[in-house]
Amino acid sequence: MKAIVYERYGPPDVLQLKEVEKPVPKDNEVLVKIHAASINYMDWGFLRGEPLLVRLWSGLFEPKNRILGADIAGQIEAAGENVKEFQTGDEVFGDISGCGHGGFAEYAAVPDNLLVLKSAGISFEEAAAVPVAAITALQGIRKGQIQPGQKVLINGASGGVGTYAVQIAKSFGTEVTAVCSTTKLDMARSIGADFCIDYTKEDFTQSGQCYDLIVAANGYHSISDYKRALTPEGTLVVTGGSMAQVFQSMFLGPLISSIGSKKVMNMGVAKPNKEDLTFLKELLESGKVKPILDRCYTLNEVPDALRYFGEGHARGKVVITVPSRRRTFS
Ligand SMILES: NC(=O)c1ccc[n+]([C@@H]2O[C@H](COP(=O)([O-])OP(=O)(O)OC[C@H]3O[C@@H](n4cnc5c(N)ncnc54)[C@H](OP(=O)(O)O)[C@@H]3O)[C@@H](O)[C@H]2O)c1
Repeated sequence: MKAIVYERYGPPDVLQLKEVEKPVPKDNEVLVKIHAASINYMDWGFLRGEPLLVRLWSGLFEPKNRILGADIAGQIEAAGENVKEFQTGDEVFGDISGCGHGGFAEYAAVPDNLLVLKSAGISFEEAAAVPVAAITALQGIRKGQIQPGQKVLINGASGGVGTYAVQIAKSFGTEVTAVCSTTKLDMARSIGADFCIDYTKEDFTQSGQCYDLIVAANGYHSISDYKRALTPEGTLVVTGGSMAQVFQSMFLGPLISSIGSKKVMNMGVAKPNKEDLTFLKELLESGKVKPILDRCYTLNEVPDALRYFGEGHARGKVVITVPSRRRTFS
């Protein structure tokens, strides 16, 4: 099969389209013919081995897993003998980072507990854009104990995680303010944001407005700036953004939360699981959440796709299509 492979850390140029052995599913695995994948920050970090901390997971001196790609959607081509839930021809999607990545390829062998059935009305590209980013947004929002009627602000609302955070927060019956740059304001409104703040013109932490829940999906503000923008009982959940933002929330959050009524939390690493993915699938089916697809690249264009993602200005999700050998099962 064809796959995008890398042998050493570096820029997207180290990636090569190669012919590699097609995986054989174990008894608890299915063989997925991948139709689409999507890019996440994890792929960008694991490609370069930066920040150095990521090498604890990706391999100290060289990449442990030679094929990147966590989010996939595709069709089951074969199932191991202990697989009960799926059969050949089923259309599925999921996050395969838990079984060694490998989404930027024509096939992947995946434990059945990492996948859920894709609905017919959702394209492979849309489904592949969901798992990591939407689960991160969902778990971050839940960590903040979101309640209907609350005022919620999403900082970094226009990227992969942020576009889901806006829509998921709306689906919980909250009033959502999206923070993004000028060219993305219309998109933020179109996905349901009640108010939008252009971060190139206005600093929301200085405006005097306060929010019950702030989800810091991207960007940077100091914890004291964020605290100023919280209501007296408000909560900040940091799901991503600059290293400074992540580390401040991780190390200062517990102390700040213990001495006052405002809560500051870091969500840690999102935990992929079938229940949350099924919950998100239902939000997609009900139309409450729609994946925002920025650009679609083909498998051999993965280096270009990662180069674009690495610029840090994606509008929603960057998707890879694997169109070469699409087939249907009777
Ligand atoms: N906790 C977890 O398990 C987990 C999982 C996935 C991702 N993450 C983290 O979440 C963060 C976002 O990931 P992502 O996939 O959403 O990234 P992304 O799609 O690459 O985010 C790009 C978007 O962020 C916006 N942005 C950049 N700087 C900003 C700023 N200062 N203020 C507001 N918006 C800004 C950009 O808008 P402009 O171009 O208009 O600036 C762009 O639309 C990353 O730090 C990632 O490491 C964490």
